[in-house]
Amino acid sequence: MLLGPPGVGKGTQAERIAAEFGPCQLSTGDIFRHALSDAGRDAPSAAMAAALAAMKRGELVSDATVDDIVRERARCLACDYGFLLDGYPRTLEQAHTLDDLLASLGHRVDAALHFFAAEPVIVARLSGRRVCRRCHASYHVELHPPHVPGKCDACGGDLMHREDDQPEAIRVRLKAYAATSGPVLEHFRAAGLLREIAAAADPDQVFGRARAAILALGLGG
Ligand code: AP5
Repeated sequence: MLLGPPGVGKGTQAERIAAEFGPCQLSTGDIFRHALSDAGRDAPSAAMAAALAAMKRGELVSDATVDDIVRERARCLACDYGFLLDGYPRTLEQAHTLDDLLASLGHRVDAALHFFAAEPVIVARLSGRRVCRRCHASYHVELHPPHVPGKCDACGGDLMHREDDQPEAIRVRLKAYAATSGPVLEHFRAAGLLREIAAAADPDQVFGRARAAILALGLGG
């Protein structure tokens, strides 16, 4: 699993780890964003509508909704190629639910990679992020700009500024992370699963560190 504050680069590294090691990827943030883009077509349930409103404000979605969503996707956790969790669990309650769910499937967490960087690095990454409306590829106006401003290199779609990447929502997200992440990190540290990855470097260097940690654990073979 990939843990760390908003904007530290979990999604960027998840793509690279998935490409190299091939696990089934489960990102709770991506699930909510897909629900948001589908919201115009299919009316969301009351629980999902509350979740999407919380997400737009930068607040955490309720544990009950997150737990339901993960349970619905339990097949990912039983994938032959393993699983990669991005942005989940975010609270100690979610971590306990995950442990129980995995135990019921006869699986377990092998490692929790904790990406960390100083707050100014994180705020700069979030403020400059642009995401393709069509294929959801991620760019940064300065650090990883597209070839044509405002257009996705991969599919030509329009790039947008995520609603929760506005200054007020960034502030709320960082506060939420500070309030809930300590016990989650401690939970996996106590289990001997936590590996620290310094993330204030270019994406290739960060991936090199993550890859080395995965291989040192005897995973990915
Ligand atoms: P989620 O989608 O999980 O967002 P997040 O944790 O806030 O993380 P981000 O996607 O913003 O950042 P990231 O770390 O993936 O960074 P990225 O690689 O994009 O969650 C969104 C919302 O959904 C939450 O706020 C909450 O409301 C809800 N939610 C989701 N899961 C939940 C849960 N379990 N419980 C409750 N609520 C939940 O990189 C950021 C930018 O930096 C990009 O522009 C990228 O190009 C650039 N970049 C990345 N790495 C580098 C690098 N090494 N050097 C330079 N630039 C870099």
